[in-house]
This record gives sequence, structure tokens and C-alpha cells, in this order.
Amino acid sequence: MSKKINSKKSKNSNKPLALITGASSGIGLATARRLARDGYSLVLVARRLDVLKQVKASLEKDFVGCQVQIFKIDVADRKAVLAWQKENQKLISKIDALVNNAGMAKGTDKIQDLKWDDAEVMIDVNVKGLLSFSLPIVKAMAEKGSGHVVNLGSVAGRWAYAGGAVYCATKFAVRALSEAMRQDLLGRNVRVTNIEPGMVNTEFSTVRLGNKDLADKVYQNMTPLSGDDIAESISWCLNQPKHVNVQEMVIYPTDQAHLGMVHRRN
Ligand SMILES: NC(=O)c1ccc[n+]([C@@H]2O[C@H](COP(=O)([O-])OP(=O)(O)OC[C@H]3O[C@@H](n4cnc5c(N)ncnc54)[C@H](OP(=O)(O)O)[C@@H]3O)[C@@H](O)[C@H]2O)c1
Repeated sequence: MSKKINSKKSKNSNKPLALITGASSGIGLATARRLARDGYSLVLVARRLDVLKQVKASLEKDFVGCQVQIFKIDVADRKAVLAWQKENQKLISKIDALVNNAGMAKGTDKIQDLKWDDAEVMIDVNVKGLLSFSLPIVKAMAEKGSGHVVNLGSVAGRWAYAGGAVYCATKFAVRALSEAMRQDLLGRNVRVTNIEPGMVNTEFSTVRLGNKDLADKVYQNMTPLSGDDIAESISWCLNQPKHVNVQEMVIYPTDQAHLGMVHRRN
């Protein structure tokens, strides 16, 4: 039986509110648990509502006083995002921390063999989805003069690699958006952090390669990061004093020195 954990601010009805996109697995799910432990109430977004329902039940059981709202939204579906934003303006105005985590890669084809559908879905989710979902939340933060936006970039947003042209381009875009947001928001007391992980063992590689066996090989004989490792970093950035903004954080596993440079114990 899982142990009930009394979060720091469990008796406080004015808990800070964090919205996490892509909270049904991996880094987003781990971040939801970590921020619940930190005393946040949560708004969780993903496409798999059945999974989100389980996540909500487990968080509300484990963290006393943590209120969890869940929404089934495809961040790449502009009409659905706009409808949600219209119906939830009050909620949007209360968000203290936005974790733009929903994202994915599809395929590893070289540019000469690139499939258009793969390219389009990565751009739609990782760039257009992030932007579309964020805009009114960021506007509300700017207007009230407080907030923290955490974007999930990647080491693929700093260095490009063969077979990752479009995924890298989307994460370079996330880094550019993070930098420009920080400049646009200067003076509004809104922090913007770009988290840039290396290899993290989540559902990411299964989604990318379309097959769990192939995904498992990616992490064979090495120790990758876990979703919890990244969640810990996100929590640390959010918990810095308000005048401190961690702008970027590059986090590799010890067994990965650079994109394709991985130490495996054969
Ligand atoms: N794993 C890595 O090695 C790694 C490294 C660097 C950066 N990242 C980045 O970290 C973020 C999280 O990835 P992860 O590793 O945790 O992968 P993951 O386990 O596959 O999780 C991705 C999450 O995003 C959600 N999602 C995907 N498409 C969506 C859409 N169109 N609308 C709403 N939600 C969507 C998924 O939920 P549903 O399927 O339920 O919608 C899931 O909750 C991504 O932005 C990824 O690019 C990952």
C-alpha cells in the first residue's frame, strides 16, 4: 500500500498551481508527483484520459490536500486548445507554474528519406502545440506580474544529429522561444527556464521507433536518466528564490558525454 505523504503546504488552501502538459507518462508524470510533493495543486493535460484519471487518483491519495484537475487535450489541435482556453479563463489566470512538457519524436530517417507526416507531427506538437497552449497562460502571468514557465527543450535543441533533423529543429525552436520569451517578459517578474535533457528512459523512444524492443536497445548496457531525475531538476528551478531565474539546464546521464557518445558496459 502506498504511503500517504503530507505535503509541506497540505493545510494551506492557497496552494500554488502548476499546469503540466504531457502528464500521462515519463517526465511529465514524474514532475506531477514531484510538484505534488512540493505542495502544488495540479492541472494535468494529455490525450490519454484513462491514464490521467489513474494519475489523479493516485496523487490525491498520496498527497493530502493536493487537488488535481485533468483535461484530455491534444496540444496540436488548435480548435480544441482554443475551446479549452475559452472555457477555462479563470483557471488560466491562477496558474503559477506552466511546464510545457508535451512533446515527441517520430522516426530517425535521414533528411533524404524523411516522411512528411513524421516531420509535420513533430512541428505541430513540439512547436505549434507548445506555443498555442502557452499564449494565454503567459499573457495572464505577464498581466499579474508573476509566474514561471518551464519549457522541455533537449540537448537536441543545442546540437543537431543525423537522423534527427526535424526533431532537433523543433527543440532548437523551443530554445529560441524560451530565450525570446525571457526577453519579452523582462520586467514582468515571469521566469522562463529551458530544461535540456540527454537520454531519459520514458515512453519517448517507443513512440519514436514504434516498438518497445527497439526502444529498450537504446538504453541497453548504460544507465539513462529517469523521469524522476528531470522532475527533481524542474522542482529545483521552481523552488529557487523569486529573484533567481535558472535560464537553461543541460542534464546528461553520466554514461552519455554527448549526443552520440554513450558508454555501454558490454
Ligand atoms: N526521453 C528523452 O530522452 C527526452 C530527452 C530530451 C527531451 N525530452 C522531451 O521531454 C518531453 C517529455 O518526453 P518524455 O521523455 O517524458 O516522453 P513520453 O514518456 O513519451 O511522454 C510524452 C508525454 O507527452 C504527451 N503528449 C504527446 N503528444 C501530445 C499531444 N499532441 N497533446 C498532448 N499531450 C501529448 C504524452 O501523453 P499522451 O500520449 O497521453 O497524449 C505523454 O504524456 C518531450 O517534450 C520530449 O521531447 C525527452
